[in-house]
Amino acid sequence: MSASSATLEIRGVSRRFGKNTAVSAIDLSIPQGQMVGIIGRSGAGKSTLLRMINRLIDPSQGSIFFDGAEVSRLRGSPLRRWQRDCAMIFQQFNLVPRLDVLTNVLLGRLNHRSTFSNLLGMFTRAECAEAVAALERLDIARTALQPAGTLSGGQQQRVAIARALMQQPKVLLADEPIASLDPLNAKVVMDSLQDINLREGITVVTNLHTLDTARTYCNRIIGMAAGKIVFDGPPEALNREAVRQVYGADSNGAEISEAITSTSIAYKQKIEASASPLEPAFPGY
Ligand SMILES: Nc1ncnc2c1ncn2[C@@H]1O[C@H](COP(=O)(O)OP(=O)(O)OP(=O)(O)O)[C@@H](O)[C@H]1O
Ligand SMILES: [Mg+2]
Repeated sequence: MSASSATLEIRGVSRRFGKNTAVSAIDLSIPQGQMVGIIGRSGAGKSTLLRMINRLIDPSQGSIFFDGAEVSRLRGSPLRRWQRDCAMIFQQFNLVPRLDVLTNVLLGRLNHRSTFSNLLGMFTRAECAEAVAALERLDIARTALQPAGTLSGGQQQRVAIARALMQQPKVLLADEPIASLDPLNAKVVMDSLQDINLREGITVVTNLHTLDTARTYCNRIIGMAAGKIVFDGPPEALNREAVRQVYGADSNGAEISEAITSTSIAYKQKIEASASPLEPAFPGY
């Protein structure tokens, strides 16, 4: 099967942490090239699902396939190959702050190379040129020689995207990539993800904490609640009732704002203060 038709298949996947079921029997099929936004309140299981896809954690049950191969069973070098094909970016960027930007980007290439050349720390001229091109594409080439930790949050997330591009991935996972950014930087980062999706046809699956971002950028929205998928469709199908299913009704019966954020302090305080059965407790928060 060619990369252009590679589908990500999630079949009956669950993940338990002790007695708590974070993800519960999820079935999902994501064809190559979709831009998917996953929404849901804090503790719904969004990060757990993404982490299982790129095997940062393993499912308790079920299987994950990509392009027909069962990625949930891979070990050793085939697992490293999958983690190269399936790049991930995080809310907190996960760069090496004391290394310069260019080296951080080149680190995205490590899984492509032999242990021997990695040990020698040698990157080819072509790899360096590719890293610079990735930085230029994200409009941060001028920061190439600065320690990554000295950049602004928005710039650091762009470095993380450049590093992900160096992996030449088929799938790009993003766990709340804009949750720590101001609106302008958030737009730059989301525009970059959209550009990568449209120009390279890379599947993008991103957890998002604001509805309006999901509506603006994603052609498919998946709503999760208590570890299950409660909505799966295009943005135009995400009506008020569907939003209510995803986020649950406000304990006072108040309307749910489009700006609702699963990570906002105000929202978490509301969850903690609520005694309504519609507002279940979320362990860990
Ligand atoms: N490593 C872990 N150990 C124990 N429980 C965990 C672990 N990771 C996640 N959980 C629990 O699994 C549930 C789902 O967590 P997850 O982080 O996937 O939610 P989320 O939808 O990403 O939330 P948020 O919007 O706050 O990021 C929560 O109850 C959480 O406490
Ligand atoms: Mg999360």
